[in-house]
Amino acid sequence: MNGMAGGGAASLDSDMAWWRKAVIYEVYIRSYADGNGDGIGDIPGIRSRLPYLRDLGVDAIWVTPWYPSPQVDGGYDVSDFRDIDPLLGSIDDAENLIGDVHELGLRIIADIVPNHTSDRHRWFQSALAAGSGGPERDRYVFRRGRGANGDLPPNDWRSRLGGPAWTRVAEPDGTPGEWYLHLFTAGQPCLNWDNMNVRSEFLSILRFWFDRGIDGFRVDGATRLGKNLEMPEESPNPEGYGPGEHPFFDRDEVHEIFRDWRRVADEYSGERTFVAEAWLPIPERWARYVQPGGLHTAFNFGCLHAGWDAIRLGETIEMTTRAMGRVGAPSTWVLSSHDAVRLVTRFGRAETMQHHADKSKNYGRETDLNLGVRRARAAVLLALALPGVMYIYQGEELGLWEIQDLPEEALRDPFWEYSGRLIRGRDGCRVPLPWSGTEQPFGFTSGCTPPWLPQPDEWRDYTVEAQEGKRGSMLELYRAALRIRRDHPALGGGTLRWLEKSGQALSFARDPGFICAVNFSGDPYRIPGRGDILLTSGPLLGDCLPVDTAAWITLDKY
Ligand code: NOJ
Ligand code: CA
Repeated sequence: MNGMAGGGAASLDSDMAWWRKAVIYEVYIRSYADGNGDGIGDIPGIRSRLPYLRDLGVDAIWVTPWYPSPQVDGGYDVSDFRDIDPLLGSIDDAENLIGDVHELGLRIIADIVPNHTSDRHRWFQSALAAGSGGPERDRYVFRRGRGANGDLPPNDWRSRLGGPAWTRVAEPDGTPGEWYLHLFTAGQPCLNWDNMNVRSEFLSILRFWFDRGIDGFRVDGATRLGKNLEMPEESPNPEGYGPGEHPFFDRDEVHEIFRDWRRVADEYSGERTFVAEAWLPIPERWARYVQPGGLHTAFNFGCLHAGWDAIRLGETIEMTTRAMGRVGAPSTWVLSSHDAVRLVTRFGRAETMQHHADKSKNYGRETDLNLGVRRARAAVLLALALPGVMYIYQGEELGLWEIQDLPEEALRDPFWEYSGRLIRGRDGCRVPLPWSGTEQPFGFTSGCTPPWLPQPDEWRDYTVEAQEGKRGSMLELYRAALRIRRDHPALGGGTLRWLEKSGQALSFARDPGFICAVNFSGDPYRIPGRGDILLTSGPLLGDCLPVDTAAWITLDKY
C-alpha cells in the first residue's frame, strides 16, 4: 500500500506525489515514431525515441490507446483491453517500453476507454449472437425500437458525430431486431455500467496493466458512463441542463465507479494515478471527479476554450486553482491535444478560442503563423509556470501547425465520413512527427511506406534535428523552460499569487522568489520585480515585455 491509501489528499506524502506536479507528454501513438517501416507509429518506435523525451525534460508520457482495434476512431474503439494491436507491437513490446521508461526515470500512463468497446470486441460479438434478452446483451445497451415494427430508434439521443446514437442489428435468425446505443460511431457500442460484470471486468483490466508496471491511466470519456434512457436529449449542449440532470453526461452514479477504481490503484505501490478526461464549466461538478477517494486529477480544457485572451485565461486559472484546491487535487493545464487545433494555428487566427468538442476547427480561417508562434511561445511559459500538472501534446514543442489541406483520400477521422464529408475532423493535428532530414518521411519511418498522413515539405525546417541547439527555436524554448521548471524550487506544485490579472497582462508570483509575467496589451509592459530574467518567450524591449511575450524572473539565486 502506498501513502495515498484511502484517497486522503492533504498528507505530506501526497504533496510529494509525482502526479501532482508532473509535465506529461501525450504520445499519439500512430504519429510519434514508426519502428517497423509500415508508415504507422508503434511501440518499438516510441522505445527508440525515449531518449528524446528524457532530454526534452518531461516527467511522464501518456500513450493513446494501443489495444487491438479496427482503428475506426484512432484506437478509441478497443476490441481487447488485455492485448496490443499487432499494428502497434506486442505485449512484450509494451512491457519492454514500460521497463525502458522507468529506467530513464520517467513514468507511463496508458489510455483506458470505459464508455464503449469496438463492435469487434468478443463481448459485443457474443451479445449479437446471444439474441434479445440474454445476459450477454446486458453488457451493452440494447433496446427494442419504437413504432409498430420497432424501426424507429428507442429514443432521440444523438451521436457526437451527428445522426441517431442507435443502430439496429439483425437477430441471429436474420430478422431486424433490437437497437444498440453508441454515443460515438456505430463501431463503438456503449457499455452498460449498471452491469456488475462490466464493472468487475474493468477492475481486472486495471490490475492487468498495473501488474505490468503501468503508472496510471487517462480515463477516456469519464463523464459519460452513467445513462438514464428514460430521459430525452432536449438540448445537444450539456450546459443547458441542471447539475447531474443530463441523460448521459456527468450523472452522479459515475463517482461510485471511480471510487472502486481508486481503491484498485491504491492497492499498488508507487503512486499509480488516474487523469479523467472530464471537464465541466461548473467548478463543483468538475471537482467531484477528483474528490478524496475519487480519481486523482482531471483534464482542464478551460485554457483551450479561453483562447489568447487575458481576461478569460485569468478567469480560468482562478476558477481551476480554486475548484481543485478545495478538494485537495492539483490543477492540470492543457493547451492542446490530438482532438484540438494545433496551438500556433489557433493563436494565429482572429478567433483564438476553441471548444474542445468542436471538430470543425474553423478550417479555412485566415492564419498568421508568425503571430501564432509568438503567442504559443508565451502561452507555454505561462502554463509551465502555473502550479500543478502540464500536458504537452507531441509536436507542440516543435511548433508544428495544423495541416488543413490533407488530401481527402488520406483522411481517417470518422468525423469526415459521418459529416457527409463536410467536417475534415482532427487529422490535421495528427500528422506524423518530423525527426530529421530534409524530406518526407523526415525520419518518422525507416521503411519505404510513406507516413500514414503526408507531411508538408516545409517541415524540413521544423524537425527535431533542425531545431536542436538552434537559438530561438521552439524546441530549445521548451527544453530551457522544462529545465528551469524542474530545478527552480518555486515551480511544480504549490500555489500562485496574482500581481496583475487584467485584460492587459497576467503576472503572478510563485514562492520562493519566482515571477511569471505575460503581456497581452498593445503596449510594452514593464517587467515586474527586481530579479534576474531566467527566460523570455521572445526578445525584450529594454526593461519591457513587448506584446504577446512572457518572461520568467527569479528573485533569488537557486
Ligand atoms: C476522447 C478522445 O480524446 C477522442 O479522440 C475520441 O474520439 C473520443 N474520446 C471517443 O473515445
Ligand atoms: Ca509501424
